[in-house]
Amino acid sequence: MTTTGTTQSQATDVLVVFGITGDLARVMTFRSLYRLEARGLLDCPIVGVAVDAWTVEQLVQRARESIVATGEQLDETVFGRLAARFSYVHGDFTDDATYGLVADAIKGDRTPVFYLEVPPFLFGTVVKGLSDAGLTDGARVVVEKPFGSDAATARALAAELHQFIDESQLFRIDHYLGKMGIDEILHLRFANAIFEPLWSRDYLDCVQITMAESFGVDDRGHFYDPVGALRDVVVNHLMQLVSAAAMEPPARGDLRSVKEAQTTLFRAVREADPAQYVRGQFDGYLDVKGVAAGSTTETFTALRLDIDNWRWAGVPFFIRAGKRLPVTQTELRLVFKRAPKLGFPWSNSPVPNQVVIRLDPSTGIRLLLHAERADVTEEGVINLDMTFADEGGEGATPYEVLLHAAMVGDGTRFARQDGVEETWRVMQPLLDAPPPVQAYAPGTWGPQTAEALTAEYGGWHGPWL
Ligand code: BG6
Repeated sequence: MTTTGTTQSQATDVLVVFGITGDLARVMTFRSLYRLEARGLLDCPIVGVAVDAWTVEQLVQRARESIVATGEQLDETVFGRLAARFSYVHGDFTDDATYGLVADAIKGDRTPVFYLEVPPFLFGTVVKGLSDAGLTDGARVVVEKPFGSDAATARALAAELHQFIDESQLFRIDHYLGKMGIDEILHLRFANAIFEPLWSRDYLDCVQITMAESFGVDDRGHFYDPVGALRDVVVNHLMQLVSAAAMEPPARGDLRSVKEAQTTLFRAVREADPAQYVRGQFDGYLDVKGVAAGSTTETFTALRLDIDNWRWAGVPFFIRAGKRLPVTQTELRLVFKRAPKLGFPWSNSPVPNQVVIRLDPSTGIRLLLHAERADVTEEGVINLDMTFADEGGEGATPYEVLLHAAMVGDGTRFARQDGVEETWRVMQPLLDAPPPVQAYAPGTWGPQTAEALTAEYGGWHGPWL
């Protein structure tokens, strides 16, 4: 099920990127805009705003270098079309005059998208500046993550922004909502009659989510250290995955129905229990530039969630995520109850059936079944694998999907305040009473104690490499 294009919003007539000289633009934005241009999906001017005293030529040069650095083969015709869209406003975000310059740059445009690639403490300042300059009517404002650092700060930030814009104008980025894998899960669940009846506590023993990254924090110490794994990827990205895996079919495909189904699911998730929460830190983390001396920030987290509803009661959702793990791989794994022992030689199989949906680095689905094999006498586990890319070609990258969604006004691709508050509610006990952080060696699956979480359920499975 694709939820794109289900809302009837007006397409934007100008994209304004605040912070266009920064890192995110260098790594993500220019490339995404270039790819949208190549696919014929860009249809408006682009105004960059930043504090650096650049000319538009410098901006175009930065765009070119950034796109090439991401490994794209630059097509000069496509790049020429993109470059022609750029203009540049140089100004301080705390200075009212900057918003006057922005107003001049977009005059006549009625449905601007303001994309705030700025630190969250500036969201309020920029939105107020835009509002005071009379630019927010009919506008959409896209904000980068994180949205708050707990339930209270997320609420306070929303209250601050809601003074100037309505919730329907606020598009919170969670790039997992632009991932092919999330769409594929919804499609798989709701377009196939063979899965839906099995997708519940009647047949499932547990659900496991693994987000493993073999790389570390590199040059992101300053950003990562005050955040940690739980806030960096679990409360946002992996909760989006939980909701795609666990929500009821939405009543319809429109924005409101999809978000209602998601929020209903979040409401049914019990507050997480700190006794079922493991925090790890890889050896060497304290030497990373930007990390505070003696930091106890977690770079690995493993936890259990329980969902109190008819579909899921009694089926734990186990989540583990971390840096410097053995592989880079994200997957959702449904582990089925064991088949009864019927006295056949093969019926003592310790391996339960599993459905695996791989999200990264490529997307695919695997069914793990038992079958008669002529070549071996023991256990006959076979994998039925399908890689989505082999069926449907290369998909768009998450930021392309999100920027396009913001420009056409598809809010399903963005997090809504009620969902954000619910996910913070679930995680809040873990933030309030975090267990001590435990060391782990780089290249391992985190602290040993993470194993105990799933021990009753046959341990962690996978990942499917
Ligand atoms: C980001 C986190 O939001 O998501 C990073 O800040 C993480 O720490 C990244 O590595 C993972 O995203 P992806 O798309 O590469 O799986």
